[in-house]
Amino acid sequence: MSTEFAGLKAVVTGAGSGIGLATAKMLAAGGAHVYGLDIAEGGLAGTAEWLSCDVGDDASVAAAFSKISALDIVINGAAISAVGNVEANTSDEWARVMNINVTGIARVCRHALPLLRKSKSPSITNVCSVAATAGIPKRALYSATKGAVLSLTMAMANDYVAEGIRVNCVNPGTADTPWVQRLLAQAADPAAEKKALEARQPMGRLVSADEVARALCFLASPLQGAITATSLEVDGGMQGLRIPK
Ligand SMILES: NC(=O)c1ccc[n+]([C@@H]2O[C@H](COP(=O)([O-])OP(=O)(O)OC[C@H]3O[C@@H](n4cnc5c(N)ncnc54)[C@H](O)[C@@H]3O)[C@@H](O)[C@H]2O)c1
Repeated sequence: MSTEFAGLKAVVTGAGSGIGLATAKMLAAGGAHVYGLDIAEGGLAGTAEWLSCDVGDDASVAAAFSKISALDIVINGAAISAVGNVEANTSDEWARVMNINVTGIARVCRHALPLLRKSKSPSITNVCSVAATAGIPKRALYSATKGAVLSLTMAMANDYVAEGIRVNCVNPGTADTPWVQRLLAQAADPAAEKKALEARQPMGRLVSADEVARALCFLASPLQGAITATSLEVDGGMQGLRIPK
């Protein structure tokens, strides 16, 4: 068993499922005590201490953090999807998704920072997306939130570098998680839609939740004390490669 995270305490938001759950499991396997902040316990039993928390709500985040007295690592993974072009979503939907995907990170970090300042190896790692840097069809609102997460990551990295608090993000491509399974289930032809998603990534496959979790754990690790203001793609080459047809 690895001891990379032994003695450290980590908050993972969106920890009940998919990428968050894989990350919570990896941090716990490395010796961390993990607080899983999620609206649902999901698969957390036996891995992390589930704290029921809606990152879209001030009181809910405050209540979760009232149970945490020490903290070294924050992984901001909670987010929700939005589908459609810029005409597709109402202003209320824009406000709701921005509130969870972007303001949710600020809300969690506001509570986390006083605790992180007491840590010897503090880090914040945000789950961003290839949608922050590549134009993905029919994802206007979702992409706007992830563009904001990328900018927020860089601004926060600057604000806290003098205090030794590292801030980075991981940009996954399409990952094989319950989120994508839900999207596929809504498609007219789920098998064809899955093939199209796989083909969009130069490696010809979806990335796994574990591959994204591994990158999040790498950036959050106390062994990576020199990495800040980095966005790390885990996207099967989707952002960086242009494959001739
Ligand atoms: N799956 C992908 O293809 C993909 C690609 C790029 C980025 N991402 C990002 O990865 C992260 C995790 O996605 P996933 O695919 O594992 O999704 P998922 O749906 O499997 O897991 C998301 C988790 O977030 C929780 N959650 C949702 N709203 C919440 C709220 N208001 N407060 C607290 N928890 C909340 C859910 O209960 C769930 O457990 C998200 O930030 C997503 O934008 C996913």
